[in-house]
Amino acid sequence: MDVPSLVLVMAALLVVVALTEPIARAVRLPSSVVLAGFGVGVGLVATVLIHGGVVPADNATARFFADLPIGSDIFIYVFLPTLLFHSALGMDIHQLAEDGVPVLMLAVIAVVVATLAIGFALWPVAGVSLAACLLLGCIVATTDPVAVIGIFKDVGAPERLVRLVEGESLLNDAAAITMFVVFSALLTSTAAVDGTLVALDFLVIPLGGAVVGVVAGRATAGLIGVVGDNRLVEVSLSLALPYLAYVVAEQLFHLSGVIAVVAAGLTLASAGPARMTPEAWRYLKDIWDQLAFWFSSLIFLLASILIPRLLGGVDAYDVLLLGVVIVASLAARWIILFGVLPLLTAANLSPPVSGDYRLVIFWGGLRGAATLALALAVTENAAMPPEVARFVAVLATGFTLFTLLVQGLTLRPLMRSLRLDRLTAVDQVLRDRAVAVAYAHVADRVADVAARHQLDSAPTADLVEAYRARGASARTAAETTTLLGADDRLALALVAVAGRERELVLQHAGEGTVSQDLVDRLLSQARGFLDAARLKGVAGYRAFAEKRLAFTWRDHLAYRVHARLGIDRFLARRLEDRFELLMETRIVLDQVLPFVEQDVTPVFGTETGDAVRRVLGERRTAVNRAMEALRLQYPDYADALERRFLARVGLALEARHVDSLHENGLVNAEVHRDLARSIAAAQARTAGRLALDLGLDTAVLVARTPLFADFTAEQRAEIARLLKPVVVLPGQTFIRRGEKGETAYFISSGAVSVDTGRSEIRLGRGDIVGEMALLTRLPRSATVTAIGYCSLLALSRRDLDQMLAGHPVLEAHMRRVAEERRRQNIAAVADGP
Ligand code: CMP
Repeated sequence: MDVPSLVLVMAALLVVVALTEPIARAVRLPSSVVLAGFGVGVGLVATVLIHGGVVPADNATARFFADLPIGSDIFIYVFLPTLLFHSALGMDIHQLAEDGVPVLMLAVIAVVVATLAIGFALWPVAGVSLAACLLLGCIVATTDPVAVIGIFKDVGAPERLVRLVEGESLLNDAAAITMFVVFSALLTSTAAVDGTLVALDFLVIPLGGAVVGVVAGRATAGLIGVVGDNRLVEVSLSLALPYLAYVVAEQLFHLSGVIAVVAAGLTLASAGPARMTPEAWRYLKDIWDQLAFWFSSLIFLLASILIPRLLGGVDAYDVLLLGVVIVASLAARWIILFGVLPLLTAANLSPPVSGDYRLVIFWGGLRGAATLALALAVTENAAMPPEVARFVAVLATGFTLFTLLVQGLTLRPLMRSLRLDRLTAVDQVLRDRAVAVAYAHVADRVADVAARHQLDSAPTADLVEAYRARGASARTAAETTTLLGADDRLALALVAVAGRERELVLQHAGEGTVSQDLVDRLLSQARGFLDAARLKGVAGYRAFAEKRLAFTWRDHLAYRVHARLGIDRFLARRLEDRFELLMETRIVLDQVLPFVEQDVTPVFGTETGDAVRRVLGERRTAVNRAMEALRLQYPDYADALERRFLARVGLALEARHVDSLHENGLVNAEVHRDLARSIAAAQARTAGRLALDLGLDTAVLVARTPLFADFTAEQRAEIARLLKPVVVLPGQTFIRRGEKGETAYFISSGAVSVDTGRSEIRLGRGDIVGEMALLTRLPRSATVTAIGYCSLLALSRRDLDQMLAGHPVLEAHMRRVAEERRRQNIAAVADGP
C-alpha cells in the first residue's frame, strides 16, 4: 500500500475509534461491542470485495483489511506491553497489597486452573495436541476489566469491588501471557522439551522478570528525579520504560517480559509521583490513557475485522467446542470464587469477599483486548501449524464475543437484581438533602446581592423565590423518601466526611505540603474509610480506624528482619512512614471538623452532626495516642517532622503570594520566574525523606543504662560488644510464659508489662527482664509485652555467662533481682485465691 493510502486508512480508523465511545453511550452498549460490530462490517466488506471479485485480488486497501499487515511480534512486543503498563500505572500499590491474597488468588491461580480446565476439557474432543488446547486455555483465561469497570462505575459499585477486579485482570494478563509464551514455544519449536526445565521456567522466568522490571522502574524514577521538572522529558522516559524492560528481560536475560512490564509499571506508579509535580504526573497518566485507548481499540478492530474470514469456515463442531470452552471456563472461575476463596478467608489469609461480589466477579469475567491480541499473535505467527492457528483464532474470538454479548449485556441487570446499585438510591436522598441546603444558600446570597445593588424589582424577588421553592421541593423529596434510619444517616454523613478528607489531602498535595508518596497513602486511607462507611456504616468506620492504627504485617516483617537479622533500615522506614501518616492524619482531621459544622449538620441534622463529631473525636484521640507513643521514643524526629511541615506550609504561602503579586502586575514575568525558581528549589530541598535514627548505637545505650553507670569506659566497651540493640513495637510480646528462654534484655528506654499470671508488673528504663530463665534454666516465668516503643539491649545465654564471669558485682545484682522476683511470684501464688 502506498503511503498516502496508508495514512488515509489510519486516519479513517482513528475516526472510527473516536466515534465508538459516543455511539456506544447513545445505544447503551459496551464500546467494545460497538467496535467489534464495526470491525466485523469492515472485514465483511473487504472479504466480499476480494472474494466476490468486485476489486482485483491485489487491491492494496482491500488486502490491508483482509490480511492484517501486522505480524505476531507487533502484538507481543508493542500492543501488550502498552496495555499492561497502562493498567499497572493505574494501580494503587498500597491498596493492592491490602487485597494481595484475593487478587493474587483470582489472578494467578485462577488463570492456571482455567487453563488446565479448558485445556483438558478440549483435548479429548478437539483433535489437536494437548499443548494447543492449553495454549487456547491460557489465551482465553485472562479477563479484561474495562467493560466491567464501566458498568461498575455506572451503577455505583463499591470501590473495593472495582479494585479487586482491576487487580485481578492486571496480574492475570501477566500470568496468562507468561504461559502463552511457554506453550507457543512448545508448539513452534522442533527441539524436544525437558519437563522439569519447563516447570522451573514457570518459577524463574516470572520472578526474574519481576526483578528486571523493578530495577528498570526504579532507574527510570531515579532519572525522572534527576532531570528536573520537565514533563515532556518525564513522559518520554516513561514511554521508553515498558518497551526497554520488555526487550531487556526477554532478549537479554530470557526472562518474562510481560512481568517485567507489570513490575516496572507498578514501581513507577509507586515511586514516580513523589519525583514529579502532580500536574506532570497527571499529564503522564493522560498520555498513557490515550495510548492505551488507541491500542486496545485497534486490537478490537483488527480482531473483529478477521471474524468474517474466520467464521467463513466455522462448522457445527466448532460451535460444540466453543460450548466446551464456555462451560470449562465458567466452571473453573466458579471453583476459584466459591470453592477456594472462602477457604482462604476461613484460613484468615484473605479478607472476606461477599457472595454477591463473588457472583458479580464471576459473571463479569469478560474477555477483551489481551485475549484478542494473543489470538492474533497466534494467527499471524508463520511458524504456528495452520490447524492450531485456526483452532485458536475461531475459539478465542468466539469466546470473547460470547462473553461480551452474553455476559456483558446481562451484567447490569444482574447487579440490579442483587441490589448492588442500591447505594445510588441512598445517594439520591443524600443529593436531595445537599441540593436543599445549597439552594437555600443561593437564595440568601441572591437576595443579599439584590439588596446591596438595590435590584429590588419583581423579577429579582421571583428569582429568589424560585430558588427557595427548588430548595424546599428537594427537601421534601429527601424527607418523604427518608426511609433512612439514624444509622444510615450517620453512615452517609461519614461517607461525606471521608470524601472531604480526600479533598483536603488533594488540596495539601496541590500546595506541596505533603510528599506525593504520603499523598497516595492518605488517599488510599480516605478511600478505605469511604468504603468502610458505605458498606458497614459507623461500625465499619470505627473498625477501619482501629485497623489503620494497628501495626500491619509489613511492620511486623520489618520488625522481624530487624530483630532476627539486625537489618534496621526497613523498620526505620516503616516507622518514618507511620510518623508522617499520623501527623498528616491529625492535621487533616482538625480541618475536617469545620466541615462537619458547616455542611454535615445542615444536611443531616444536629443529631447526626453530633454523632459524626463524636466518631471523629475518637479517631483523633486514637491517632494522637499513637503519635505521642512515637514522640516519646523519638522526640527529635517528631520535632524535625513538624519543622519540615511548617517549612513546607511557609513555602506554599510564599509561592501563592508571589503568584498573586505577578497576577496583579506588581512584579514582572522575569522577577516572578526568578522568585518562583528559588521557591521551587527550596521546596525540592524539603521533599526528600527524613531519615529516622532508631537510636540503636549500642555504646550510647549502654552508657544510658543505669546498671552500667559505675563501669569504666573500657568495661562498658567490652559489655557493648556482647549486647545487641533491638527496638520493640508497642503491644509486641517478646517473652512468653512457659517457653524456653535464650535471651535476657536490659531496658534502655520505654516500658514493658510483665504478666506473671497472678499480677502485672511494669518495668522501665534501667530494669532487666528475661534474666530468670537464663539464670535458673527454668521456663519463662511470665509474659512480657512492650507498652510503648522500647529500646532494649539483648543478651544471649552464652554471652551472659561470659559477661557475668568478668563482673561479679553485676552477677550478684542480677541474681539478687531474679531471686527477689522469684520470691515475689511464689508469695503471689501462696496469697492467691
Ligand atoms: P524470665 O522468667 O526469663 O521471663 C519472664 C520475665 O519476667 C522474668 O524472666 C523476669 O525478668 C520478669 N519477671 C517475672 N516475675 C517478675 C516479677 N515478679 N517482677 C518483675 N519482673 C518479673
